[in-house]
Amino acid sequence: MTTGTITRADAERLDVSSPLAGTRERFRIPEGVIYLDGNSLGALPLGVADRMASVVEDEWGTGLIRSWNAAGWMELVGRISARIAPLVGVRGEDLHVGDSTSVSLFKSMVAAARLRPERSVIVVEPSTFPTDGYIAAGVADLLGLQLRWCDPADPLAAVDEDVALLSLTHVDFRTGAMFDMAGITAGAHARGALAQWDLCHSAGAVPVDLTGADADFAVGCSYKYLNGGPGAPAFTWVSPRLQDQARQPVTGWMGHAAPFAMQRDYAAADGMAGWASGTHPVLALSSLDAALGAFDGVSTDQLRAASLSLTDLFLALLDERVPGLDVVTPSDHARRGSQVSFRHPHAYALVQALIARGVIGDYRDDGDRDGIARFGFAPLYVTHTEVYDAVEHIAAVLAAEEHLDPAYATRNAVT
Ligand SMILES: Cc1ncc(COP(=O)(O)O)c(C=O)c1O
Repeated sequence: MTTGTITRADAERLDVSSPLAGTRERFRIPEGVIYLDGNSLGALPLGVADRMASVVEDEWGTGLIRSWNAAGWMELVGRISARIAPLVGVRGEDLHVGDSTSVSLFKSMVAAARLRPERSVIVVEPSTFPTDGYIAAGVADLLGLQLRWCDPADPLAAVDEDVALLSLTHVDFRTGAMFDMAGITAGAHARGALAQWDLCHSAGAVPVDLTGADADFAVGCSYKYLNGGPGAPAFTWVSPRLQDQARQPVTGWMGHAAPFAMQRDYAAADGMAGWASGTHPVLALSSLDAALGAFDGVSTDQLRAASLSLTDLFLALLDERVPGLDVVTPSDHARRGSQVSFRHPHAYALVQALIARGVIGDYRDDGDRDGIARFGFAPLYVTHTEVYDAVEHIAAVLAAEEHLDPAYATRNAVT
């Protein structure tokens, strides 16, 4: 293995001085695994398994239907919203939690378009996570609007007097590049459009200030950096400026002002309560509620400082140990989320070879271009020492050409 100027002892020192030294103990990370995929599925926080056992055995098994009242199942959404709120710079009462991100996007894109009835275009950027574009196309089709693709280098150039909504993903899922939320939101408003932000790759990893940016709508999943578990429900935020007028289209009984009055006609509940549609996913919400305890006492500044320190180290080590890699993540802190990615002709096989060594990242296709190897740095549980070891593994795999082993070429269903 090559020896460069950064040593493992340097990484160990960074762990000792990290603002989040100790929060890793709040998670169960399997022995022998370096987990750099929290940008896809967060690790399991301690406390979730016991909580789930109790919800299943006691609340469901013993309490049965009584638990809707006795165990406070109806209060889960409010409690979780209050815990997510400081991570994205909003008030808990302005969040709804319970749908998938895709459904949250659908509801809020329809609501946004209805707020600008004289405008006929939704703008999305082409490299966004596919579901954002698919949902925008579906909403455009449903409402007789047009979908317009913008240049990610200058999204505002596509926003003219026809545009109702500019919908962007704050941190890009492939490259980890981060948009200037406040500047772009102000630009959209100056052109009379609304701004929506997908926070899937931001919430819990980078500080987000939706209120300060004066954004209009936001959505985000909770199974990545929020560690809520596979398929954990997403959150939807609507600016308090707009809640009185914004109408979401999935008018199910749980969003009714009086669901148990069983009235014939729909009347939306006030505020974000009116963004519920069907019965709350109690098991998934319980897991998320317990998982969010991992953020207790942690500030977004601490998360950001730890995240940048980890990604800085990874980038510096790649530069030293594997020079010439096609890194696609911005080096500028203001433009970087909490992941680092590089393009490689054998990116899929390389990721598989790393997984075989216990270093878990993932792979994302990118059309005709070489694919992307992605490494996520969840600041609550990834250590600098692991970053050091991960880069040693990457260098070793490439030096020995382990990734060319045919065993790593066959794609799994989930990459
Ligand atoms: C930016 C972004 N939006 C949306 C999603 C997924 O949406 P859903 O929660 O509906 O599966 C992802 C998943 O990785 C994502 O990265």
